[in-house]
Amino acid sequence: MKVEQLRLEHYRNLEPGVLRPCEGVNVIYGSNAQGKTNLLEAVWLFTGGRSFRGSKDGELIAFDEERAELTMDFFAQERQQQAKVTIANGKRSAVLNGVPKASASALIGSFCAVVFAPVHLSLIKEGPAERRRFLDAAICQEKPAYAGLISRYSHTLSQRNALLKDVSYHAELLDTLEIWEEKLARYGGSIAGERLRYLSGLSKEAQEVYRGISEGKERFSARYRSTFFEEGGDARQLAGQLRQKLFASRREDLAMGFTGCGPHRDDVEITIDGKSARAFGSQGQQRSCVLALKLAEASMLRRSLGEKPVVLLDDVMSELDVSRQDYLLNHIGGWQVFITCCEPDAILRMASGAAFEIDKGRFQKEAPGPVP
Ligand SMILES: Nc1ncnc2c1ncn2[C@@H]1O[C@H](COP(=O)(O)OP(=O)(O)OP(=O)(O)O)[C@@H](O)[C@H]1O
Ligand SMILES: [Mg+2]
Repeated sequence: MKVEQLRLEHYRNLEPGVLRPCEGVNVIYGSNAQGKTNLLEAVWLFTGGRSFRGSKDGELIAFDEERAELTMDFFAQERQQQAKVTIANGKRSAVLNGVPKASASALIGSFCAVVFAPVHLSLIKEGPAERRRFLDAAICQEKPAYAGLISRYSHTLSQRNALLKDVSYHAELLDTLEIWEEKLARYGGSIAGERLRYLSGLSKEAQEVYRGISEGKERFSARYRSTFFEEGGDARQLAGQLRQKLFASRREDLAMGFTGCGPHRDDVEITIDGKSARAFGSQGQQRSCVLALKLAEASMLRRSLGEKPVVLLDDVMSELDVSRQDYLLNHIGGWQVFITCCEPDAILRMASGAAFEIDKGRFQKEAPGPVP
């Protein structure tokens, strides 16, 4: 998948213009607040997803303007394509290859990208919910039906939780608990099965990337930590284990008024050389871990799509030493990458690729510097 041309009109602070990136690494550099992240966000919108900064659609339109228009020519599914995203009246709409779509999210699957932004550091720094969200979102990209499984599980979980509270007033309801537990175990077993399958591929890929980033000096690992099983298994075995655990924890769950075990409480443990990255990792190591996970996600997506998604790396360079930066600049071969940074020094170490300087929303192409 390659972005060939991006035309922007009245998007954030970016001046109307056309960006023609190269097929490899594109560095976008400039001082703070010049529009670097805005440019990555503009590319991201073509995935059909919402802004990775959590902005509302209306906030994407340049101040004092009424509509923003973005047009992208890209190469995907072995052909030239064009997508257009318009933002007006606080809403996004899209046209793909001349055909208007019901909503901008209809672009999902046509153009695919993976993004790293500083907010994703929460994947390491924060609690388990962030890691579960990451896994689930990544699996949904591969298997859209997984989203339905998650919502059936959540619905069943809230039914069991409500019942746990009601049983103290109506003891006769205890019998119905089993019905909900049976369902919860079935959905929960399938979720855990999917997560284990995905994580086993993802962690292998991430390990490989991390080895490259750290020049083989550190070892990355990501392991599923469950609240209801020790050893993995298939969906049916996992469902059996969850059923038993739910039954065994009834007394505890009744006292707390909620369900204390299940995929909604599971975690992924990320370690460097066997030590928790969250508790002991340095800033650069934590950043490298998230980067490894994101690039691994891109590799997983490539397997399911049959082609490479575009990689967007916002502000990834800071806190990384020169050798880790070099890995990003020179060792992600065959992928189209967009990297933002403040310092233009990085470009001098780029073996090939393109650089764009961005100044007060205006972007211009510069020739990459000589290789030292
Ligand atoms: N809708 C909008 N219209 C006009 N300007 C906007 C709009 N939304 C954001 N901006 C401005 O865009 C500017 C650049 O934002 P951006 O986040 O892209 O900067 P950046 O180059 O990534 O900076 P940093 O290096 O600090 O991350 C901000 O100063 C902001 O005020
Ligand atoms: Mg930025």
